[in-house]
Amino acid sequence: MTEPDSRRDETLLAIAKAETIDALEALRVEALGKKGWVSALLKTLGGMTPDERQTEGPKIQGVRAAIADAIAARKAELETAELNARLASETLDLTLPAPAAPKGSVHPVSQVMDELAEIFADLGFAVATGPEIEDDWHNFTALNMAETHPARAMHDTFYFPDHDAMTVPASSSEAVGEKRRMLLRTHTSPVQIRSMVKQGAPIRIIAPGRVYRSDSDATHTPMFHQVEGLVIDRDIHLGHLKWTLETFLKAFFEREDIVLRLRPSYFPFTEPSVEVDVGWKDEKGRRVLGGDGDAPGHGWMELLGSGMVNARVLEFAGLDPSEWQGFAFGVGVDRLAMLKYGMDDLRAFFDGDGRWLDHYGFSAFDQPTLSSGVGARA
Ligand code: DAH
Repeated sequence: MTEPDSRRDETLLAIAKAETIDALEALRVEALGKKGWVSALLKTLGGMTPDERQTEGPKIQGVRAAIADAIAARKAELETAELNARLASETLDLTLPAPAAPKGSVHPVSQVMDELAEIFADLGFAVATGPEIEDDWHNFTALNMAETHPARAMHDTFYFPDHDAMTVPASSSEAVGEKRRMLLRTHTSPVQIRSMVKQGAPIRIIAPGRVYRSDSDATHTPMFHQVEGLVIDRDIHLGHLKWTLETFLKAFFEREDIVLRLRPSYFPFTEPSVEVDVGWKDEKGRRVLGGDGDAPGHGWMELLGSGMVNARVLEFAGLDPSEWQGFAFGVGVDRLAMLKYGMDDLRAFFDGDGRWLDHYGFSAFDQPTLSSGVGARA
């Protein structure tokens, strides 16, 4: 065997035994690199006679090709082995338990507010908002509760100190320069005034939001939620109010057998005023919702206040009562949530207890829609 042939065989053997890409690369440099022995052999061709070159040339090229092919083949082998080793060590164990489900839920108050928005949007109502830090003109005066009005005292208002009073700016269309006391709004009714002043008539809005009163027991918290409704147009009458409330309550409670009872009442901002009680019947025709009937659990549930917007309120808000009429209503959102979803202590709504939220909260995917029933629960 000639020298190149034995060196070739040594090299091919070493290539076959190489265990790493690095070792393979060292062998390649040793043979085929610029200063490698095969390269040196190729250089000797220049000094040969044409005849020698004819016989030696193909031999040397054959050695070069054999080594290059062996290196490429062994390299592919090593890479496949490395990939298989990685695949073996990186397996996904499908028998492991699934990762923890996302935490957190939608609070029932938020859910009910979304349900209300969905129901009223379908009736053509827009959602309006107003500030929680309100002035006494919007919260009381413009709602026909003058400073000396006894209804003001009944609201257990949180007032800000006198030095926080605001002075009506010159840019306002209202009584410029007048001092107004600031307070936490005691109801959502001031949004009626703000909406009428801002957009005039006709109007069709609901205004959900937080309200505040200095009061606390199982059914009262210092902060709670109301939704206000206001419709102003021409020729609006009590019939429109009753139909709207009936349609709303049937959609909200998702039952057709809802019965309403309208009782004469008094609110300074409506005339006439009606309080609305709700009930429904069981299979035997008895009303079963509510607690103030003849038997526990049988009777009417006092639900909301409403009425035809008082002409004085329209005037305060800059509308002409001979042209525009309307109705308004106000209802406690927390109370609606309690009735629909069965909680009995309002205070727990605002404790932030994870167990309560796990139990009564809603999935973020549970979006109220009319087509699937606004309160559909997964
Ligand atoms: N604002 C009243 C309250 O908080 C509720 C209310 C009653 C609102 C009658 C109205 C209404 O819009 O017409 O007690």
